[in-house]
Amino acid sequence: MAGTFYVTTPIYYVNDVPHIGHAYTTLACDVISRYKRSRGYDVYFLTGTDEHGQKVEAAADANGETPLELADRVVKRYQALWDKLNISHNDFIRTTQERHKRAVSEQFRKLEAKGDIFLGEYEDWYCTPCETFWTETQLLDGTCPDCGRPTTKLKEESYFFRMSQYQEQLVRHIEENPDFIQPKSRRNEIISFIKEGLRDLSISRTSFSWGIPVPGNEKHVIYVWFDALSNYISALGYPEDKDGLYENFWPVDVHVIGKDILRFHAVYWPTFLMAAGLPLPKKVFAHGWWTVEGQKMSKSLRNVVEPNMLIDKYGVDAIRYFLLREVPFGLDGDFSHSSLISRINSDLANDLGNLLSRSTAMLGKYFDGVVQSPDHADEIDQAYIDLFPLATAKIDKLYEDMAFNKVLQTIWELISAGNKYIDETAPWALAKDPAQQGRLGRVLYNLLEAQRLIALQIAPFMPETAEKILALLGVDPKANLADNDTWGALQAGSKIKKASPLFPRIEAE
Ligand code: ME8
Ligand code: MG
Repeated sequence: MAGTFYVTTPIYYVNDVPHIGHAYTTLACDVISRYKRSRGYDVYFLTGTDEHGQKVEAAADANGETPLELADRVVKRYQALWDKLNISHNDFIRTTQERHKRAVSEQFRKLEAKGDIFLGEYEDWYCTPCETFWTETQLLDGTCPDCGRPTTKLKEESYFFRMSQYQEQLVRHIEENPDFIQPKSRRNEIISFIKEGLRDLSISRTSFSWGIPVPGNEKHVIYVWFDALSNYISALGYPEDKDGLYENFWPVDVHVIGKDILRFHAVYWPTFLMAAGLPLPKKVFAHGWWTVEGQKMSKSLRNVVEPNMLIDKYGVDAIRYFLLREVPFGLDGDFSHSSLISRINSDLANDLGNLLSRSTAMLGKYFDGVVQSPDHADEIDQAYIDLFPLATAKIDKLYEDMAFNKVLQTIWELISAGNKYIDETAPWALAKDPAQQGRLGRVLYNLLEAQRLIALQIAPFMPETAEKILALLGVDPKANLADNDTWGALQAGSKIKKASPLFPRIEAE
């Protein structure tokens, strides 16, 4: 076993239904999970839903249902989408589950007993969509400085968390652990936010009731972010840890989130953990924001991109590929149908699809589909073969930086080099000369063996496509990278059928 690896998505609010933004984060976590498993790690991949809070309560009211009815209904939408997207999570946590509520109450009790939580009074401005308090001076023309929507003045008795106590310790931690917050640009943003001064944080509400009650004072419910962030340890069975998951997997290797919720993960959550005396996450990675055809995605603009419809239309692997190929992870990106279609046509149908159909067609035509023995390598063969260990090493490193688009670029360099190798070795010319039979067999072997390794590398991104290719090549379709990433495993003598097109070309509408 290469070690353990724990990765999480945010837990999504159930007042909204899933769209490509949610799919993007979950997909990134799925790719890293599949890759790590393939490299021999014991992986724990957690996702789930955030079901408490004023926002969910209000959405339920507006629908004439209870918050739990709303949650039960919407959670099915998330779970169905993750199934359809081939998400390989190990656990799905809902904050309304007993295991979670128990852990949150315990965490609250623990910090209160320690003196890090105290009862006080609050008077400030609240943005319900962001579930965030702001001071008068932080507001922009009376609206939320994050989202620009109206805020309301709230004055209530509240429990506070002594976040201010942890300011120095947090800054030190961030400075001493350069990889803690990624990408780097976001890290600087968080450091300056903290240096402006951390205030004590209001962590209970009395103005509504949909939440976990404060232990011993049921007039209050626990602040939804204190509740939600704890999912990352409650899902591991904290604090009892009956199954040893907490022991095995905490601290988390990476919390993957969107940049919208970085402050909660890089400031609030670490200070809660420090107060509880628990180790901090190894990494928080905040990716960028998707717009659609140049515009912000929103219900009112009716431009929310619904992944189900995209998957039905283009296939699951095309969508998985596109979302992680199109935009460097960490930067903002724009979704457009034209860029999706052009990626499918050029990268998938052309580059990847042609390589497979050309080489299997030639093997069928010249050798009745029987893989020939490669015996030795000419210079041009060796040059192609040598690209593979280099690419593998490069890819391993790129994954460490979550540079998914560069991983794909690196794989696509191997694919392009394969297509070029065909052009340069010109198998159709070799086929005309009986003296070149051995050479022809060797060239085709190299092409097919290349695609075995390429299929293993694309598997985290496109698991169904990879399985199809591996099955066609007659090797274990579930083969992992760790045991199969060296050149030469394809067996001479096995028989390979001509591939049908992996990705049909899409005609633009
Ligand atoms: O914030 N582009 O839940 P949420 C990219 N419950 N990513 C996007 C996106 C977009 N346009 N829209 C959404 C919450 N996301 C809290 C989290 S965690 C302890 C609690 C993704 O349903 C992105 O990952 O509003 C973002 O951080 C998340 O969905 C917000 O989901
Ligand atoms: Mg949100």
